[in-house]
Amino acid sequence: MNLQGKRLVIGMTGGIAAYKVCELVRRVQDEGATVRVVMSRAAQEFVTPTTMQALSGQPVATDQWGAEGARVANAMPHIDLTRDADALLIAPCTANFIAKLAHGLADDLLSTLALARRLAPPCPLLVAPAMNVEMWNNPATQRNLATIRGDGVELLGPASGNQACGETGAGRMLEPHELLEDLIAFFQPKLLAERRVLITAGPTFEPIDPVRGISNLSSGKMGFALARAAREAGARVTLVAGPSGLSTPRGVRRIDVVTAREMYDAVMGYANRADVFVGVAAVADWRVVNTSPRKLKKNADAGPPALQFEANPDILAAVAAMPGGPLTVGFAAESENVVANGQAKRAAKRVAMIVANQAQDALASDEAEVHLIDAGGVRALPRAPKLAQARQIVAAIAQLLA
Ligand code: C5P
Repeated sequence: MNLQGKRLVIGMTGGIAAYKVCELVRRVQDEGATVRVVMSRAAQEFVTPTTMQALSGQPVATDQWGAEGARVANAMPHIDLTRDADALLIAPCTANFIAKLAHGLADDLLSTLALARRLAPPCPLLVAPAMNVEMWNNPATQRNLATIRGDGVELLGPASGNQACGETGAGRMLEPHELLEDLIAFFQPKLLAERRVLITAGPTFEPIDPVRGISNLSSGKMGFALARAAREAGARVTLVAGPSGLSTPRGVRRIDVVTAREMYDAVMGYANRADVFVGVAAVADWRVVNTSPRKLKKNADAGPPALQFEANPDILAAVAAMPGGPLTVGFAAESENVVANGQAKRAAKRVAMIVANQAQDALASDEAEVHLIDAGGVRALPRAPKLAQARQIVAAIAQLLA
């Protein structure tokens, strides 16, 4: 669970994107967080406090006065609600509420508690804007956004696209799963802030003819998890991915390739600007030289086609050999003697660290047990989900960079 023990206050203002927050309130609890919902007057025109109470399992605060004021011993819900909160998220956040945040207006419970939240130790404020494209583009809104950014408010989105009003453009609130991913990322330590990290992931596919080829069972899960973990840690991440149905982690630049040579070209085009290179991809060792431009026919008399092979470039070794190149980390999928083989691979490829794992884990599993092998020795990471392992690998990379 990625938000274990986190206490969130989710403030809702008046926008149709409120329906997405119903889902978000569930999902953050699935990740181990507890949620208090606070609603503005206008938010209640879109979903009811009863809905949000049922979804959050907690009373919903709508008013400084009346029942909420009476429920809190000191009659000051605007203070109490955020004092033990790990973050305050405003979603959906209207243009009007952004203007109130920018100017410190406090004319209802939600705006008052936003103004009254602690700055040290901080109760961070995250804002998920939701508004019509013209409202978003209006210079007044852009001015207010610059102000709240300068005040340290974290903006989540907005996205561009079709809007409920029928117009198209920036101002769409992020989807619940995107907000969840950004929220989880927000709480991760920024161990790789502003570092440029280049990662390969997935299998490669080496064509034989227009419809056939040679590939492997790599799922790409570990490489994609590492891209996500590096981005969570504040890195600028480029992911060079072989054929994979996985969705791109938020905030990650993805370059899709098919063959090992395409992967090599994509990596070499960027590696001199990267601080870190992690080769997770299961790159095909060989490619077919005599590929056929036409689909090969089954000709039983002639027997199977005689394929000729040529070695693919070793991308990891090539990056490790670059003068002044990035810190390089390789993976080693082994079926036996995982540590000894990993150590040998680290020496042979001259990389800073090898992440050695069982070959069967490296393929489709959601979990892995890995060994981190660097100049300092060997560290075993017990079996855990790949995202958890990826975060530990990111921490080890940050230590190597330090
Ligand atoms: O030599 P082997 O394939 O076992 O090494 C695995 C490591 O080398 C992985 O990090 C993999 O991404 C990388 N590799 C590569 N280019 C190749 C073969 C492997 O970058 N052609």
